Amino acid sequence: MAKKDEKIWIIGGSSGIGEALAQKFAARGALVVISGRNKDDLAAALARIGSGHHAIAADATDRNSIEEAAALHGPFDRIITTAAIYDPGAVGKADADEAAKVFAVNLTGTFNVAQIGARHLRPGGQLVLFGSAAAIFGLPNGQVYSATKAGIVNFAQSLRTELWPEVDVRLVTPGFVRTPLTDKNNFAMPGLMEPEAAAARILAGLDGKSFEIAFPRRLIWPLKLLGVLPHRLAFWIAARMRG
Ligand SMILES: NC(=O)c1ccc[n+]([C@@H]2O[C@H](COP(=O)([O-])OP(=O)(O)OC[C@H]3O[C@@H](n4cnc5c(N)ncnc54)[C@H](OP(=O)(O)O)[C@@H]3O)[C@@H](O)[C@H]2O)c1
Repeated sequence: MAKKDEKIWIIGGSSGIGEALAQKFAARGALVVISGRNKDDLAAALARIGSGHHAIAADATDRNSIEEAAALHGPFDRIITTAAIYDPGAVGKADADEAAKVFAVNLTGTFNVAQIGARHLRPGGQLVLFGSAAAIFGLPNGQVYSATKAGIVNFAQSLRTELWPEVDVRLVTPGFVRTPLTDKNNFAMPGLMEPEAAAARILAGLDGKSFEIAFPRRLIWPLKLLGVLPHRLAFWIAARMRG
């Protein structure tokens, strides 16, 4: 499904992978609407994307703002939500309020965008949710974020069957991509990609037919293998990553 005149709403389009996706879709003739919470970041991203596109502030955890943005700019051919936050660290040191925010933005926010967005898609339109390689197997020091991403995987699977064929639900599973989100990491990130390269992989995947767009393979496959190994061996390997 690649149309020149399609209209695409990207929640999280003011930064990182979302912005890179907005630029790629705009470059091939789509009309792009980007959302996020910070208006200055939205304006700056919109200026980089180019003229003729739109930015509207919306918070994924605030259903009214999502509803208003959708009603103002919809219907859409694709709704993509990359909105997420990340607060890495040991579970014993995690701030409970910050953890609650991560659950709220990543899980409740994704639910809000999916439920409201599904009503503002053209028939057969795409709803694109973002998981993560971190969702494949629970690794040390990213528990809360990883748990939200694992929840999104399950949610996307449910929606895929529940909403098809009215809505074409897709799941994106990126490995490490250099963005403000991963700038917080103080460890070596195997297979680290630039946002433009990640966006190119995602765009090609969304034009194809696969439910899940997972990359890079050299990170995804070992993690998937970890998930099918006997637990004792898998946890022994995972413990080597505790740092
Ligand atoms: N970068 C990676 O290596 C990587 C790997 C695997 C998965 N992912 C996933 O890929 C997606 C994009 O990540 P990224 O690295 O591009 O992150 P990013 O650069 O931090 O961008 C996050 C975007 O989400 C927006 N956002 C955050 N909270 C929001 C909320 N409550 N409502 C609306 N918008 C909100 C941010 O804008 P405001 O702050 O202004 O709201 C920003 O535009 C995320 O789902 C992330 O979990 C990333």
